[in-house]
This record gives sequence, structure tokens and C-alpha cells, in this order.
Amino acid sequence: GPSLRALADRAGVRIGTAVDMTALADDRTYRGTTIRDYNSVTAENVMKWESVEPERGVHNWKPADDLVRFARAHGQVVRGHTLVWHSQLPAWLTSGVEDGSIDAAELRGILRDHITAEVKRYKGKIQQWDVVNEVFEEDGSLRNSIWLRELGPSYIADAFRWAHAADPKAKLFLNDYNVEGVNAKSTAYYELAKRLRAEGVPVQGFGIQGHLAIQYGFPGQVAENLARFGALGMQTAFTEVDVRMILPVDETKQATQASYYRRLLDACLGARSCRSFTVWGFTDKYSWVPGVFEGQGSATPMDETYGRKPAYEALREGLAAG
Ligand code: G3I
Repeated sequence: GPSLRALADRAGVRIGTAVDMTALADDRTYRGTTIRDYNSVTAENVMKWESVEPERGVHNWKPADDLVRFARAHGQVVRGHTLVWHSQLPAWLTSGVEDGSIDAAELRGILRDHITAEVKRYKGKIQQWDVVNEVFEEDGSLRNSIWLRELGPSYIADAFRWAHAADPKAKLFLNDYNVEGVNAKSTAYYELAKRLRAEGVPVQGFGIQGHLAIQYGFPGQVAENLARFGALGMQTAFTEVDVRMILPVDETKQATQASYYRRLLDACLGARSCRSFTVWGFTDKYSWVPGVFEGQGSATPMDETYGRKPAYEALREGLAAG
């Protein structure tokens, strides 16, 4: 049958995947599947700060350059991930703040320079940038991160302004997990986005990661949530979808997983704001899940040997219907 990509092209939408650059270089099946099934790619790790600036002032752009070149060669768009995050920061930065050798004023300049350098490097080549990632707690309060502690809440608006100055055409996104439906955290994003846009801050998109687990059930009010961001004039996107389960796998769990993938995809395709749906890896061979959630896994649409799960077929059917 037709690939996910062919169906997405026909529907005029983006079907994306996170890409593991080591697998892309070493594994032909991985590479072939990335090309065949996806018309959008996101760097799983290589655009993060610890990867692009491992030592202060010493940049390592090669893996990220490779992905951008790969995407261009294969007619894919790129989602940039991610500019401001509390995690995967370079050690020189976190230790410099801890030992007091980097003060708040200097840190603000370092953040501005980081955003400017990375966004400029890929100017015109990134469709959507995850500018700030995971800035709220579950209760809707701002996350107590190095950025909030040192710079105060204005770092968020600053990050969007700096990114916009560096590439005025890229769509700039907020991005987080556990924000599929209407809840305290997604409402905090809604209020933040509304306020920033009223102040003229260039924030154009809301990225919903979509890391689900079948044992927690399907989130409520997903369509309503997408609609309220759409009503602000914003784009939405599913940016990191996977659906994990407690192992071992069985048919019932796989069917539930397939329905969760389908319901997220349907929510996206049913909203005018949402034209981009990305899975956080397409094969269990390289999924981040088992390393982080002990006893859980099988979260992606293909197993370790690239066998298609019911979830893969559910994505196909959803794209064909969309
Ligand atoms: O690159 C080093 C390698 O040199 C070293 O030998 C190895 C030993 O552990 O670690 C390697 O770094 C790992 C990196 O992935 C690249 O493989 C890190 O330990 C590991 O923690 C890191 O995990 C990534 C994680 O973000 C970090 O928080 C996952 O691959 C990646 O899938 C995950 O992605 C995040 C999104 O960015 C944001 N949303 C949640 C999502 C899942 O956690």
C-alpha cells in the first residue's frame, strides 16, 4: 500500500519523525524508512545545546548540518528542536552558573547568542522552531529552571524575540508534554500565548509532544484544546508522539495503542490549526522509552525489526481519511 508520506502528501499535511543521527548513518533500513514514510524530520538530540556547543565557544554543528542537508536532499521539512530547555544543557553552562563565574547578565547574553547563532545558521531551512520547551509544571506554575531562577519570567518573551530576529519566516513554537487535552498545564500555555501575542511577542505555534501511555488512558478534550489555540490565530502541531505500554506486549494493548495514535492524528487533522504530526521515533529499535521507564516500551509504530504494528496501520488509515 501507499507510504505514510504519500498519504500525507495527498492530504497536504506533514507526517514527521524524530531522527537519531547515529542510526541514520549506520542503519540502511532506518534511513530508507525515514525517507519513505516521512515528509518532516526533527533532530532527536543533535540540535540541543549540549550537542551544538559542548565547550564554551566551540560549536559542533556537523550532525545538525547533516540532518538539514539530508532533509533537503529528500524533500523533507525540518522542525528545529530545541533552543531553550532546562535539560541537556552543556556542563560548562550549568557549572558556570552554579559556581558563580557566570552571573545573570552574562547568562542572558549567552542565551541570546546561542539562539541567534543556531537560528541564523539554519535560516530559511526550518519550518517550525521549538523555541522554549517544557517551561511549565503540571499545576501551571512556571518551572523552577536555571532560566527562571537567573533571568526571571521575561526570558520566554526574549527568546521568541531573538529567534524571530534571526529568522523572521520560521514559525516559533512553545512545546511541552501532558498538554494534549484541556488541563492546568495546557491552560497555563493558553494564557501565556494569549498574553505574549497581545504584547506583540512573535509566538506562532503551540507544540503538543504527545507522549502517551496506555495505562493512563486517553486525555480528555483534545479537540477543544486545539481549537482554543487556533482561535488565538496560532498553529498547533503534535511534535513527539509515542504511546508506551507496560511490557509484555499483547494484542489488546496493541489495539489500544493503535486507537490512541489514531485519535491524536484525527484530532490534529480535524483542527484547521494543525497540519503537522510527528512521532518521536518510528521503530522500537532506537526508542528512548525503555531506558527511561523501566518495564515499559513498544511505544512506536514499528517493532525492533521494522515490523508494522496496528499503530502503523492506524496512522495510514487516518492519513488516508484526512
Ligand atoms: O551522546 C551521549 C553519548 O556520548 C554517551 O555515550 C551516552 C551514554 O549514556 O549518552 C549520550 O547522550 C544521550 C542522548 O540521549 C543521545 O543519545 C543521553 O544520555 C540521553 O539522556 C539522551 O536522551 C534523550 C532525552 O531527550 C534527554 O532528555 C533522548 O534520546 C530523547 O529522545 C529525549 O527527547 C525528549 C525531547 O527532547 C523533549 N521531550 C521529551 C523527550 C523524551 O524524553
